[in-house]
Amino acid sequence: MARPRIGSNRSPMRTMQVRQTRGQGGMEFYLRRLAEADLAVYKALRLEALRDHPDAFGTSFEEAVGLPDTVFEQQLRSNLILGGGFEEERFDAFAGFVVPPEEKVRHKGIIWGVYARPEVRRAGLAKALIQTIIDAVQGGIEQIQLSVGAGNGPAERLYRSLGFEPYGLEKNALKTGGRYIDEILMVLHMRQD
Ligand SMILES: CC(C)(COP(=O)(O)OP(=O)(O)OC[C@H]1O[C@@H](n2cnc3c(N)ncnc32)[C@H](O)[C@@H]1OP(=O)(O)O)[C@@H](O)C(=O)NCCC(=O)NCCS
Repeated sequence: MARPRIGSNRSPMRTMQVRQTRGQGGMEFYLRRLAEADLAVYKALRLEALRDHPDAFGTSFEEAVGLPDTVFEQQLRSNLILGGGFEEERFDAFAGFVVPPEEKVRHKGIIWGVYARPEVRRAGLAKALIQTIIDAVQGGIEQIQLSVGAGNGPAERLYRSLGFEPYGLEKNALKTGGRYIDEILMVLHMRQD
């Protein structure tokens, strides 16, 4: 996969074509950073993810659906949110990445919100999105953390396939409708070159 550069939010990188050489022929994805102008598509994907997978995310659909657009615009501004799909400018998956601003923790980044629509799953799209983020922040960030629901086998396998390792288990991390969900805490220590 090519080593991409992720543009600033003011000048989002142009669409990047990523060829995944898997199986016979491989797959081609189009990935790019989503900007404020992509509010509608980002908001639709995010709300769909929260609605259809309530156990997979820390935010509930009910609280997100009532938020003003400015909150989603702010997410697009202050996070690196990569969208991807099989056709240019058609986004069926996204992954978020953020670095906290505080001095003592800004050597660490966080991957969040990873989602691929059911019709595009198992083609390597989520993996390509996360690998692209990893490649883009290599050299500036020392580790990337994320959390995944303890019963979410597909997502845990996805992260393991990218080199993430578990470093802890947060018991009762999420509470939804009186039910608790444990979360596996995972980390990828970045190459130091
Ligand atoms: C988890 C999710 C993002 C995976 O997206 P995807 O685009 O289908 O994932 P990829 O095709 O890139 O998968 C890469 C690897 O992850 C693992 N994987 C992904 N889905 C899997 C599944 N259903 N079963 C087993 N392994 C799976 C495999 O190792 C796969 O590699 P392989 O296909 O060569 O075996 C998607 O299923 C999804 O959106 N799920 C609902 C929301 C969610 O759980 N998000 C994660 C929150 S932490």
